[in-house]
Amino acid sequence: MILVTGSAGFIGSNFVLDWFAQHDEAVVSLDKLTYAGNLENLASLKNDKRHIFVQGDIGDAALVGKLLAQYRPRAVVNFAAESHVDRSIHGPEDFIRTNIVGTFHLLEEVRVYWSGLADKEKAEFRFLHVSTDEVYGSLAKDEPAFSETHRYEPNSPYSASKAASDHLVRAYHHTYGLPVLTTNCSNNYGPYHFPEKLIPLMIVNALAGKALPVYGDGQQIRDWLYVRDHCSAIRCVLEKGRPGEVYNIGGWNEKTNLEIVHTICALLDEFRPLPASHSPLPAYRSLITYVQDRPGHDRRYAIDARKIERELGWKPAETFATGIRKTVQWYLDNQSWVNRVQSGDYRNWVEKNYSGRD
Ligand code: NAD
Ligand code: TYD
Repeated sequence: MILVTGSAGFIGSNFVLDWFAQHDEAVVSLDKLTYAGNLENLASLKNDKRHIFVQGDIGDAALVGKLLAQYRPRAVVNFAAESHVDRSIHGPEDFIRTNIVGTFHLLEEVRVYWSGLADKEKAEFRFLHVSTDEVYGSLAKDEPAFSETHRYEPNSPYSASKAASDHLVRAYHHTYGLPVLTTNCSNNYGPYHFPEKLIPLMIVNALAGKALPVYGDGQQIRDWLYVRDHCSAIRCVLEKGRPGEVYNIGGWNEKTNLEIVHTICALLDEFRPLPASHSPLPAYRSLITYVQDRPGHDRRYAIDARKIERELGWKPAETFATGIRKTVQWYLDNQSWVNRVQSGDYRNWVEKNYSGRD
C-alpha cells in the first residue's frame, strides 16, 4: 500500500480517487483536515476497504511513526501543505509549521522506517514530495520557462516555505540516501478546487452575481494544468522516476489572469446565460472588477515540461480548452458541494460520517 498525505485537499483527493480508478492497491490517507481539507471529496470511498482515512498532522512524529510501522507502505506521497499565497501573506506561521517543520518530521519518521526495511523493500521504497513552480520565482515576459535547474528564488511566504521543504527533501537523499522524488508543478484547476483560488472563485462568484476581483492589471501569467493530468504525472514519476531527481510538470498553457476570467465568463454565458434584463450587460464579464494588487505578486510562471516527457514519456491528456470546459461544468453540476464549502457545513462531515465508527 501507499501512504498519501493531504488527501482530503484539492489535488490529494483527486489523486486518491484517480488512484482507485487505476489500481486496487490500498491507500492510507493522512490529513489534518484544516479549512482546506474536505472529506466529502472522498465520500465515494466511504465503504471501500482499499482506503483507510486517518485524521492527523504530518508534524505529529509519533502518529506518523505509528502509521508507517502499522501499514508498512511501499511509498509516501506528500501533498500536505498550506497552499494559498494570499493566506501566507496575512499569516505565514501555519505555512512554516506545516510546510517546513511538518515536512521535516514526516521525512525524519520516513527515514527511520525506511532504514529498518529489508534490502529489497529499501531499494524499492519511494518518498514523493509534491511541490510547486512558485519556488523558482517570477519570470520576465521573454525569459525561458522554468527547467529543473532553474535557480530557487521564492517570493511569497508560501513559496519560501515550499522551497525550504524541497531543500529538506533533497538533503535527505544526499545525506541519508532516502529514495526521494520531487515534482514541481504549475497551477492546477479542476473539480474539488477550494473557491479561494482564482478559477473556482471566479466561477462561484459569477454564478452568485458577485464581483470578479482581478488583482492589479490582470496581466499576470500562470501556466495551467488540469488536476487529473497532474495526478497522472505523479503516478508516472512514482513508478518510473529516478530517485533523487526533480521533475517539472506542466501543460504548456500560459494564460493571463484576464484571459482566464474571460474564458470562464464566456463558458458561463454559454452554459447558464444571464437573463436579458440583467444590467448593465447580459454577460458575466460585466462583473469583472479590478482590485488592489497582491503584495509581491509574481508576474509570470511557466514550466518547461520536456524532462518528464523525454525521460518518462508523460504528456497531459487535456488542453486548456477541454479542461476548463469540464471544470466549469463540474461546478455547475456540483453546486451543493460549493454551498456546503461556502457555508462551512462540510466541516460537520467528519462527525456526521465517522461518528460511531472505529
Ligand atoms: P489544498 O490546500 O487544497 O490541500 C492541502 C491539504 O493538506 C488539505 O486537505 C489540508 O487539510 C491538508 N493539510 C494541511 N496541513 C496539514 C498537516 N499539517 N498535516 C496533514 N495534512 C495537512 O492544497 P492543494 O492545492 O491540493 O495542493 C496540494 C499540494 O500540491 C501542496 O503541497 C501544494 O503546494 C502543491 N501544489 C499545488 C498546486 C495548485 O495549483 N493547487 C500546484 C503545484 C503544487
Ligand atoms: P491563485 O489561484 O491564488 O494561485 P497562485 O497565486 O498560487 O498562482 O492565483 C492565481 C492568479 O490569479 C494570481 O496571479 C493571483 C490572481 N488572482 C486574482 O487576480 N484574483 C483573485 O481573487 C485571486 C484569488 C487570484
